[in-house]
Amino acid sequence: MAKILTLTLNPALDLTVRLAHLEPGAVNRSETLLTHAAGKGVNVAQVLADLGHDVSVGGFLGASNPEAFEALIASRGFGDVFIRVPGETRSNIKIAEQDGRVTDINAPGPLVSEQAQKKLLKMVAIIGPEFDAVVVAGSLPRGVSAQWFQELIHALKDLGLKVALDTSGEALRAGIKAGPWLIKPNTEELAEALDCATDTIAQQARAAERLHAQGVEHVVVSHGADGVNWFSPGTALQATPPKVSVASTVGAGDSLLAGMLHGLLGCDLPEVTLRRATAIAAMAVTQIGFGISDDAQLARLESGVRVRTLTEQ
Ligand SMILES: Nc1ncnc2c1ncn2[C@@H]1O[C@H](COP(=O)(O)OP(=O)(O)OP(=O)(O)O)[C@@H](O)[C@H]1O
Ligand SMILES: [Mg+2]
Repeated sequence: MAKILTLTLNPALDLTVRLAHLEPGAVNRSETLLTHAAGKGVNVAQVLADLGHDVSVGGFLGASNPEAFEALIASRGFGDVFIRVPGETRSNIKIAEQDGRVTDINAPGPLVSEQAQKKLLKMVAIIGPEFDAVVVAGSLPRGVSAQWFQELIHALKDLGLKVALDTSGEALRAGIKAGPWLIKPNTEELAEALDCATDTIAQQARAAERLHAQGVEHVVVSHGADGVNWFSPGTALQATPPKVSVASTVGAGDSLLAGMLHGLLGCDLPEVTLRRATAIAAMAVTQIGFGISDDAQLARLESGVRVRTLTEQ
């Protein structure tokens, strides 16, 4: 099994409030309130741990409210290399009503100082060589520039690490320039980052070629229930998940990424890697949370995934 570091620069506490009906401007009583430590790298870490890997989690964590993260880290046995920064880790509030309507209120995170950014670079320079791969996932916090982010990806690569990147917008554009080993955008994120259309397989293949030329070996393009297209030099595969009933899509992309890393680091056959990763992502959508809770269900989902070689159309 591999030793993997995940970096989440802008983690969040997910607060889910359930109530019958939201009455704006009035006092509302909630039925339940669930809080959990989240953020893309933290989610990927949990799925990687379910797959048996030795995982450490890092990034920037607000020093005023680290309890939920510290409890998760302790219960999962993760290495904790988060840099504590003054202030509170942001909260993302989801108000879920009985009729299925969900209202999201996303808060900004703490401002991350230059000093904290230097600390993170120093930390990865010291511990980086212990790891086989690093996942850099999620958005940039306040105070962190796209240019610094690019430097971070370069620094991780220079340490000989396989860098898997999952972000969007300016951060993805900047990160790509540093030539990470793998990226996992959805179709919209890829279109935005490269400023080109990515609707057809031919368009995605051309985008992947450009990315390969920039040093990105694996381009994993996800598109929700339609599945995944995976381009690496000499291989282009498409996976279509089986039809599943959707409980929540939270963590689907993170599960796909964890599954791809698992297969690639374990040197599994490409078809096996993609089939399992697609099944792990499908399993995430069948649950309110995500993760590998039932091996028999995973095996059933795997047998329902269709994998085929892509030819341009
Ligand atoms: N309804 C679904 N049924 C089966 N599999 C799904 C479904 N929705 C998503 N998936 C799986 O999860 C993968 C990732 O989903 P998606 O493309 O929506 O990722 P994303 O946009 O990065 O999402 P996020 O970052 O919010 O997790 C898909 O490629 C697919 O394999
Ligand atoms: Mg995503």
